Amino acid sequence: MKEIVLNDGNKIPIIGFGTYKSVKEDGVLAIKNALAKGYRLIDTAARYNNEEEVGKGIAEGGVDRKEIIVTTKLWRDNLGYKETKEAFELSLKKLGLTYIDLYLIHWPANAKNYNNWQKANADSWRAMEELQAEGRIKSIGVSNFWEEHLEALFQTANIIPAVNQIEFHPGYWQPELTAFCKENGITVESWSPLARGKILGNDVLNAIAEKHNRSVSQICLRWVIQHGVVVIPKSTTLQRIEENISIFDFALSEEEMQQINELPEMGFSGELPNIWPDRV
Ligand SMILES: NC(=O)c1ccc[n+]([C@@H]2O[C@H](COP(=O)([O-])OP(=O)(O)OC[C@H]3O[C@@H](n4cnc5c(N)ncnc54)[C@H](OP(=O)(O)O)[C@@H]3O)[C@@H](O)[C@H]2O)c1
Repeated sequence: MKEIVLNDGNKIPIIGFGTYKSVKEDGVLAIKNALAKGYRLIDTAARYNNEEEVGKGIAEGGVDRKEIIVTTKLWRDNLGYKETKEAFELSLKKLGLTYIDLYLIHWPANAKNYNNWQKANADSWRAMEELQAEGRIKSIGVSNFWEEHLEALFQTANIIPAVNQIEFHPGYWQPELTAFCKENGITVESWSPLARGKILGNDVLNAIAEKHNRSVSQICLRWVIQHGVVVIPKSTTLQRIEENISIFDFALSEEEMQQINELPEMGFSGELPNIWPDRV
């Protein structure tokens, strides 16, 4: 499995496993299946209300804890120094773990919804830096941060985020933000790499899939990793869990990469970090 070295020296696999909407017994089983099929990076969040199931799947999955990179996220209601520390403890407890590999601020406080959004993000970040120094978090990062949120964070941060997890799929891939992250040594992770299925009928993607004798999902995921971006597809279907990780024995040409880069906007979630939770 290809790995990415983060700016703090820790390594994560280039493909991981998403768990949004993966709950109850299906959620536990999905984690066990994913581990059995070779995934070693797991993505959850306090907001997904499935940290207990994810923890159970990890405990029952038969893979050494040290081999698994567990990501969870701080929800926006818990931004702030004290709130972050409390929310972190709760996530840890629900997951049944003694440390988190990658802890992310799920959404930035933004100018539309906070009087002092810079402080809300900075205070959370300070708490996360401390938790990292104590060894309770291996890597710290953010999610859905635009350049303006990152620039503001840089003003007070001692540590540059290791990761920025953003919406990134054919039809909406934020190339300028991706380039900015790369220039600053921040690894980009793609959420909704399949746009939750909304882009799978696209003709260009289907033609490329046919040429490679692959599924459209595999083409989307391969395109993401060929950008040097970490991808975390979600599925609770065993056959798809296996299909999605089987993307290391073919490659897209430069021309195909370009064709996908240039697809018109499609599958966009409507969630913009500067106004969210409002949508466009
Ligand atoms: N940081 C953030 O704000 C944020 C936001 C959204 C998502 N995320 C993370 O990113 C992960 C992935 O994003 P996502 O769950 O929104 O969307 P996604 O991975 O783009 O799509 C998941 C959907 O596609 C289906 N699917 C999966 N593999 C497939 C395949 N090979 N063929 C056809 N359909 C397939 C799944 O169905 P089945 O499960 O029924 O197979 C599910 O309905 C999330 O689970 C979450 O961990 C983070």
